[in-house]
Amino acid sequence: MAKSRFEYVRNFELPDPLMPNTYIVVRIDGRGFHKFSDTHSFEKPNDRRALDLMDMAAKSVMGEYKDVILGFGESDEYSFLVKRSSTMYSRRRSKISSSIVSLFTSSYVFYWSQYFPNTPLRYPPSFDSRVVLYPGEKELRDYFSWRQADTHINNLYNTTFWALVHGGQTTTEANKTLQGTDSKDKNEILFSQYGINYNNVPAMYRKGSVCVREHPSSHASTSAWTPPSRGQTAGETSMRTASQSTSSPFSSSKKDISTDTSFDNGGILDGRSDDEGSTVPVVRTDQEEKPWRTGKKPKRVKPYEGTEGEVVVIHEDIIGNTFWDARPWLLS
Ligand code: GTP
Ligand code: MG
Repeated sequence: MAKSRFEYVRNFELPDPLMPNTYIVVRIDGRGFHKFSDTHSFEKPNDRRALDLMDMAAKSVMGEYKDVILGFGESDEYSFLVKRSSTMYSRRRSKISSSIVSLFTSSYVFYWSQYFPNTPLRYPPSFDSRVVLYPGEKELRDYFSWRQADTHINNLYNTTFWALVHGGQTTTEANKTLQGTDSKDKNEILFSQYGINYNNVPAMYRKGSVCVREHPSSHASTSAWTPPSRGQTAGETSMRTASQSTSSPFSSSKKDISTDTSFDNGGILDGRSDDEGSTVPVVRTDQEEKPWRTGKKPKRVKPYEGTEGEVVVIHEDIIGNTFWDARPWLLS
């Protein structure tokens, strides 16, 4: 086909590839949601319907883009992890960023009436999007820890603030009451003045939402997959019964950030054990061929990469090791 004389303008489109072999995080954030939440009468401090809708939009994204292997959401934001080895859209920054935020936004609008059946959408909401690359496991985990710590700090503040306001203080008075308080003080106000045990506030509000795919083996009723321990090779990874399992993918962390006061002084939880970076796991079956019997090369079982399986939303700690140890594919 003959080229038009205008074709040269294509050269102004510059490539914007993301560095290979780095963790890609796409964070989207609602634009002007302070006003949007007021206009649509969101409950304060947390509106369950709004958060469920955000989770639904995130599930849409993960349903469409298999290389998005993890999502973390709070308030009007969601962070998506694209797996390190991904070649999605040839790792073009704007393609990845714009496709994700576009699908998220259209899904938010598409599912709106399911979550707000009696609240018409008054105007089109929008979300911004940015891409950040993280070079290593530490930075990536610290990124997600940062977002979950932020969830905790904001939610404890907002829960206490609105308890004071509902208890009769003006917003200015409530702000003043909370000035200079740490998390212990806020827990104390909630408990002694309003009988609220912060630990009983729904985990969704305290810990945010984690979107992740279920490992296919989790559907087996009597057994749970566990990652190999250090020194164990991929071939030695085995299925253990749930009762033998020391690290079930579905157990919650012992470390509960909601009771940790270190956030108030900017402290960072670092309960990381030194057994990270374990070998990539495979699930071994008894039917595997033995090369010395058949003379054939052993069949390679593809390790689970987190791209297949049902997307589920959970509300658990992602600052400690338990969540990550149970899902080594997220960091591989
Ligand atoms: P930009 O992101 O800079 O455009 O500003 P923003 O107005 O969206 O504020 P920001 O992203 O910093 O914070 C999100 C805001 O959304 C909160 O401050 C709340 O006002 C509102 N919001 C989010 N979730 C809820 C909710 O469940 N209930 C209520 N009432 N408000 C919410
Ligand atoms: Mg916002």
